[in-house]
Amino acid sequence: MLSGNSPWDRWVHDRDSAAVSDAVRRGGQLFEGKARCTACHVGSVFSDAPFDLYHKHRRRDGPAGARPGSVNVTKRDGDRGAFKTPILRNVAETAPYMHDGRLKTLEAAG
Ligand code: HEC
Repeated sequence: MLSGNSPWDRWVHDRDSAAVSDAVRRGGQLFEGKARCTACHVGSVFSDAPFDLYHKHRRRDGPAGARPGSVNVTKRDGDRGAFKTPILRNVAETAPYMHDGRLKTLEAAG
């Protein structure tokens, strides 16, 4: 899937505010601001995975420890249930969501 030079890129990188709707601009401000999604979903692919970081998704993880996650890789017990942050490029086209596909819609995942 190719997604370079998307309306989002033209807004963020080329500062073309006409490239996206008001709703996208509000969502982008929420994503980077109050909702703090960019604590993990950062940069042009919206992920800190290239830095080998693992996280527990704060709202969608279910019972603690239900999934081993990166504890199998790092051998640190605190990493139980933690996963690499998936990229969010073209996320509307990549259902189902989360490492095990347990969430069928983007609304459920976000
Ligand atoms: C603490 C780090 C962190 C923060 C903050 C965070 N995420 Fe995530 N996000 C993750 C991780 C890790 C996963 C994968 C979890 C899994 O596979 O079980 C994920 C998964 C997702 C997915 C599913 C992507 C896919 O392809 O499966 C979406 C959508 C998403 N996050 C959106 C958001 C939004 C919107 C916010 C802000 C409201 C947010 N995230 C905040 C770490 C984070």
